[in-house]
Amino acid sequence: MSPITKIGVIGAGQMGSGIAFVAALRAKCSQVLLHDPNPTQLQAGLKHIKAILDKDAGKGRITTADAEEAFGRIRPVGKDGIEEMDKAGVGMVVEAAPEKLELKRSIFSELSKGLASSTILASNTSSISITKIAAATIPAGVAAASEEAKRTAGRVVGLHFFNPVPVMKLVELISALQTTPETLESARQFAIACGKEVTTSQDVPGFVSNALLMPFINEAIMCLDAGTATRDDIDKTLKLGMNHPMGPLQLADFIGLDTCLNIQKVLYEGTGDSKYRPSILLERMVDAGWVGKKGGKGFYEY
Ligand code: 3HC
Repeated sequence: MSPITKIGVIGAGQMGSGIAFVAALRAKCSQVLLHDPNPTQLQAGLKHIKAILDKDAGKGRITTADAEEAFGRIRPVGKDGIEEMDKAGVGMVVEAAPEKLELKRSIFSELSKGLASSTILASNTSSISITKIAAATIPAGVAAASEEAKRTAGRVVGLHFFNPVPVMKLVELISALQTTPETLESARQFAIACGKEVTTSQDVPGFVSNALLMPFINEAIMCLDAGTATRDDIDKTLKLGMNHPMGPLQLADFIGLDTCLNIQKVLYEGTGDSKYRPSILLERMVDAGWVGKKGGKGFYEY
């Protein structure tokens, strides 16, 4: 199995630009093609990457030459992104697009049509079933149990990075029902090359990380709603009592309350278990547009 040296990243938001950063700086991929259909987002993603590289060089963690080289290996690509990735011969594409099943299914269908059959197709989704995404790569009319479908869908894998990607040490690998052992191993090697520790989860709602994290956050919101303790005391309990870097309410704001609610709904609907019922306060805050840090207001004001 040869290491992945050229990759494509779909989506230049917080996660996609973070993934491009670790691929260029840590994995030293010779080419990182960063694609976003929105030119403004693409430029913002590049600016973010440049700022972190400059900060690392400023702190003496890397040399200025390292920072310049890493930035030079990242190539922004616009609407012909998949064609460009095919021309460059990328070994893997990591998708970090918004968390919408139909959008991801359409991206993976296009990726499987436009790229060599050996290209690994990874999704950074935090909650959508990798098995459903993999099924979208099978061309219409091809039976899901055929050898062609097994090859096509077998190269799809979940590669779940954590926010902020440059800082968080973990990547959670998710094996869909169709994922081949070779795909899983290549993805693992890539994550290790990016400087990450790796865990593996089966494709169940929330995988391991969010099946544990979201109910914890949801319970904290229920605790607040029930008046058990104030916002500050809930967060202080976990920060000072358990050494968490952020309390659960601050973390919910950081992740985005809409994202938390979506994931909690995936757990609730995907398992049918009432223990995952989303907090009514969380639902109401999202209804109000108070989605956390990115929106200027959540449990805290920004
Ligand atoms: N991109 C790159 N670097 C960033 C960053 C970003 N978006 N945000 C912070 N950093 C860097 C800072 O530049 C700083 O780097 P330095 O050491 O070179 O100065 C370093 O992180 C520490 O930042 P700060 O000093 O500003 O602040 P803190 O010490 O409070 O750390 C934190 C910030 C790393 C975000 C820390 O509070 C933390 O670990 N919080 C918990 C984060 C967490 O749990 N993430 C997972 C969320 S769940 C998820 O992603 C899964 C999804 O499916 C929901």
